[in-house]
Amino acid sequence: MKKLKMLFISILVIMTINYVTTGSNLVYADDDFEKYYENHEGVKGEDSYEDIGEAVGWGTVIAMIIAGLIYPIRRSMKLVITNFPGLKKMFISISRFFGKYHIFIGIIALVLSIIHGIFMYLSEGELESEGIIGLGAVGLIVIASIVGSVLFKNKKVKSLRTTHTILIVLAFLVGAIHIFVS
Ligand code: HEM
Ligand code: HEM
Repeated sequence: MKKLKMLFISILVIMTINYVTTGSNLVYADDDFEKYYENHEGVKGEDSYEDIGEAVGWGTVIAMIIAGLIYPIRRSMKLVITNFPGLKKMFISISRFFGKYHIFIGIIALVLSIIHGIFMYLSEGELESEGIIGLGAVGLIVIASIVGSVLFKNKKVKSLRTTHTILIVLAFLVGAIHIFVS
């Protein structure tokens, strides 16, 4: 599983680097040719940065939601089991599944948010207020992940769990403001 994770993350990074280098070559090459070609390709290149960046942005949102599902699932465990005893087995395996892959999905969310940020920056060519708000959300996820790594080794420490959750709630809020103003 560890190798699979490493492979997946490496592929994502290689794809990004590949896209970024090919994309900028096109833009540089454009400067050497006629005006028509330059404008046409230049606009097209920036557009595709934005399209890919936006798709990755929504991917980040989805990954964050899937990672966060661990919370309502765990909290509703008692309620579901007492009211629907027949669902106990299924609910426990769902809960185990989300527990097992939580860190992996959380890291995917973090990696996607960074890739999104890079693409949006390349498409806009500057860091504007919405980008700075986005950076704030990424910063919160980074700190939450650091706390999460400590929590992983000390699962009984309640304050670490609360800190991790509060940071994630803030990341959701700042992320939502970022999407709203974009
Ligand atoms: C957790 C972090 C982040 C999430 C969840 C996120 C999510 C999104 C989403 C879903 C959109 C698309 C909105 C639409 O379709 O109109 C968007 C737009 C944008 N994002 Fe992010 N983002 C994050 C971080 C960042 C960072 C770090 C940057 C830049 C450094 C950034 C820059 C932008 C920009 C410039 C847009 C505006 C695109 C436009 O409409 O012109 N974002 N973001
Ligand atoms: C956007 C990404 C993430 C979200 C939305 C998120 C959210 C959550 C939530 C809501 C909980 C439940 C807290 C509770 O039981 O009261 C939790 C637990 C936890 N998180 Fe995250 N998290 C994210 C990323 C990460 C990352 C990257 C790591 C590790 C580096 C991590 C490590 C942990 C650990 C170890 C737990 C305790 C799990 C257990 O009790 O078995 N999380 N997280």
